[in-house]
Amino acid sequence: MSDNTEWQDFEKLIVVRRLREVIGKWFHIQINFTDAKGFLRGVPEGKFFNPLNPISQAITNDDKGFGDCVAEARKTTVDTMGAKSPRTYRCKSGFSAVSVPIKVGSRYLGCVFGDGFILKESEAEQKSRIENYIGRLLPKQEKELKAKIAEIPVLNEKEVGYLTELITIVVDEMVSMQKSVSDQSHKVNQLSAELGTRFGFANMVGKSSAMQGLYSLVERVCDSDTTVLINGANGTGKELIAKALHYNSKRKKSKFITVNCGAFNENLLESELFGHVKGAFTGAAKDKVGLFEAADGGTLFLDEVGDTSMSMQVKLLRVLQEGTFTPVGSTQVKKANVRVLAATNKNLEKMVQEGTFREDMFYRLNVINLVVPSLKDRKEDIPLLINHFLERYAKNSNKPVKVVNKDCMTRLMDHEWPGNVRELENEVERLCVLAGDDKEITSDFLSGRIQEKTNTQYPGLRVHGRLKDALEQLEKQLIREGLERTGWNKSRLAKELGISRAGLIMKVEKYALEKRKIS
Ligand SMILES: Nc1ncnc2c1ncn2[C@@H]1O[C@H](COP(=O)(O)OP(=O)(O)OP(=O)(O)O)[C@@H](O)[C@H]1O
Ligand SMILES: [Mg+2]
Repeated sequence: MSDNTEWQDFEKLIVVRRLREVIGKWFHIQINFTDAKGFLRGVPEGKFFNPLNPISQAITNDDKGFGDCVAEARKTTVDTMGAKSPRTYRCKSGFSAVSVPIKVGSRYLGCVFGDGFILKESEAEQKSRIENYIGRLLPKQEKELKAKIAEIPVLNEKEVGYLTELITIVVDEMVSMQKSVSDQSHKVNQLSAELGTRFGFANMVGKSSAMQGLYSLVERVCDSDTTVLINGANGTGKELIAKALHYNSKRKKSKFITVNCGAFNENLLESELFGHVKGAFTGAAKDKVGLFEAADGGTLFLDEVGDTSMSMQVKLLRVLQEGTFTPVGSTQVKKANVRVLAATNKNLEKMVQEGTFREDMFYRLNVINLVVPSLKDRKEDIPLLINHFLERYAKNSNKPVKVVNKDCMTRLMDHEWPGNVRELENEVERLCVLAGDDKEITSDFLSGRIQEKTNTQYPGLRVHGRLKDALEQLEKQLIREGLERTGWNKSRLAKELGISRAGLIMKVEKYALEKRKIS
């Protein structure tokens, strides 16, 4: 039993909430959870736990009686912990109950139970027992008690089976949530530990083979002084790679300076990089040290290097080849010991062919070439990145870490991410803000472009109206197609869909998809 099981999170699972409603409506039974020690969870300790049951309602006004019943429930649920499968039992007070153990692997987390009913086959006997038992606890309410006993739900064998099945669905859902939470945190911990010790890339997440290949290249070249050209689409993490190269090199104690070559016009860029002397041009009121000089001993990162003009490239080439430069307006040649890293999202080779990038400059920069893969080519990194950003948001905002539910995660995985990691990062931050204090992030808050994209994959699916209706329609369609494809093999389909068999059966009924109804 993990003591840190977040019981209140189970209450937020849609299936749990919906089944609670269904069980309440059909059987007048409220389902409850207990932990491995038999303590009620999900409702405050010692509080009213079956508000739907007429006797519970009477007992709540009486501390002693209620205490007895809670103790009874606790004892019987503790007994259930040892049970491997659902069981029906009789409380000392005469009520029947169904309880299903919650088991993740070989650990018992607790159980889910529904109690406060009577079995049809022993109706008279149970009623008289309840009357005696509760009557002793509440002697003053004899008359009311008789009326209340008449209202107790009486279930026949089939109904008890149905109740058990529904409670099992609740348990399945809780188990799968518990598993995915522990899998996710396990994965993230494992990954951070691995990266932390291997590379010290504290801020880089990615376990895909593409990223692993990149990490080992980074590891191999970080300590040399060679120029590195980093290629990759927008927002793939080029700057992060440049920083990893610097902070894992012997230069790490000196400066890492970034200059965005696309952000300056040619004159300004020259003065920015090489500095200028007082009076070199209008506005040059005093001498200025350039970035090459400022980065002496460290690393200079030429970002968006594809945006430098041809003449600027000549000047850059000189520094790269000779390590010397001349500040604007000066005649004095200066020297700096700087490692140059460069990045671009442009295809420099093509630019060379087209005559817009100097060939000698290209070969000088491209001594070592690192390509950062696009996110769509390493989708397995998406859940890890999402967790990473969720944790960072929680830390920065001083709030508990949120979780993305299954449906939302699927949609995030299906998106093409033209803006790569930066786009994903922004989306996760947006989701966190929109979810407010909710711990679970659902797909309701996803940006329009992500929602739309998913919809176009299922032509014919409604794209207007309530999200809930659209999701149900999609669910129905998936199940219907799946049933036909698998020849009504529910176990196989449930496995494919990642839900329990009982869960699938319930959905098949809900959408009236039984074989005879749809064929
Ligand atoms: N592997 C990763 N793990 C964690 N965060 C990442 C990763 N890759 C990128 N990021 C984050 O995504 C954002 C974009 O990364 P970065 O600025 O390094 O990309 P870029 O390729 O330089 O983007 P641009 O093309 O816009 O210059 C940053 O906030 C960065 O922290
Ligand atoms: Mg960048």
